[in-house]
Amino acid sequence: MKLRIEPASRPLRGTLRPPGDKSISHRAAIFGGLATGTTRIEGFLVAEDTLATLGAMAALGARVRRDAGQVEIQGGRLHAPDRALDMGNSGTGMRLLTGALAGHPDLFGTTLELIGDASLSRRPMRRIIEPLAAMGAQIDSSDGHAPLRVRPVLLKGRTHQLSIASAQVKSAILLAGLQAEGTTTITEPGPSRDHTERLVPAFGVDIDCGDQRVMLHGPQRLTACRVSVPGDPSSAAFMIAAAALVPGSSIEIMQVGVNPTRNGFFRVLEKMSSPSILRLQAQTANAGAEPVASICVTGPSGLKGVEIPEQWVPLAIDEFPLIMAMAATAGGVTTITGAAELRVKESDRLAVMSRQLQRLGVRVDETADGAVVYGGRVDGGEVDAEGDHRIAMSLAVLGLAANGPVVINGAQWIQTSYPGFVDDLNLLGAEARWI
Ligand code: S3P
Repeated sequence: MKLRIEPASRPLRGTLRPPGDKSISHRAAIFGGLATGTTRIEGFLVAEDTLATLGAMAALGARVRRDAGQVEIQGGRLHAPDRALDMGNSGTGMRLLTGALAGHPDLFGTTLELIGDASLSRRPMRRIIEPLAAMGAQIDSSDGHAPLRVRPVLLKGRTHQLSIASAQVKSAILLAGLQAEGTTTITEPGPSRDHTERLVPAFGVDIDCGDQRVMLHGPQRLTACRVSVPGDPSSAAFMIAAAALVPGSSIEIMQVGVNPTRNGFFRVLEKMSSPSILRLQAQTANAGAEPVASICVTGPSGLKGVEIPEQWVPLAIDEFPLIMAMAATAGGVTTITGAAELRVKESDRLAVMSRQLQRLGVRVDETADGAVVYGGRVDGGEVDAEGDHRIAMSLAVLGLAANGPVVINGAQWIQTSYPGFVDDLNLLGAEARWI
């Protein structure tokens, strides 16, 4: 489907609540399916990715009831599903679930298959297969890619030193460690999102977290609890960027998760805009020990190109398509380095975003681990999401600041993570419509 965005004709105004956090919704669904008793999840993200994970837990024997974003999962006793577990487009779903199932005692003696769409089947799975195999896991792949075949067996805890900062890899190992005998320890080269570490204690798990080091003793059982999912900062970022690109805008986004391992986008925006256009209010911690705040964006008057510090890359890993879009409108040059991981996301985000920006007349030099974006004028035109939800939404936001309408082909990929995106953008005063 095509989405057409008109250049903004007036400032954006209004208040919104973003959809539930995708990372936390996946985790709540998986932990709820593993836990004994009934887990109640409030604010669950209703989108294709997270519904795939919820569907997988149901196929594994969890009883799932859902009324919009209110989810109840009765878990604790799994059985082999009667079909392959289809994780759709979701790397988080596939990687975390593989870790959770690899040593699950209810499934010993069975073989499970995890499949995904064309994009997910291209993404690297050795990064989880190798550490899980070191714990004894039996996982076959198609040359390091999905489909994965898992034969659950008794695992042994061990120490892992990760070569990349990846919350998906860390969480897959921790989930396997919960079923394993002995101690599982992980050290990471830098910080990655810590939602698993924050959420498992609510399910009764003992976990010891230090500076880029996390440890747990297995086996441990999970017990059901209540989870309240904060708004997704990665989804909120699109609305925040929209307001930052349209002069005179003033918006408020409520109930946004402001976990420090996810705050890279806010830091980049602060660096690109001076004086500061962001204000955080009413910080609270919710049941999953996640800090939450309202975020106001007021009075933008143009962004400037910046060099993005490499240590911020993991903290803004999902926001780089959007950062590249903002950079295209900024005065001056934006340089991104140390971001080769972007090549193995839902698409090769460095290549795809560079290509699409060039179609709108923006000069971009793609490099092996980043890009140099020469900001200034952005033309209207036709672009393609290339199968990636975050590319589609980033180009839509950019359309607000272009010199003519922007038409995005394949914009239906937005359903992966933010089905209400077009409505929310229009609520703020943008003109976006499906054609
Ligand atoms: C996620 C971790 C990140 C992120 C992804 C969600 C998670 O991936 O890009 O969208 O929920 O753990 P990596 O851990 O592979 O960097």
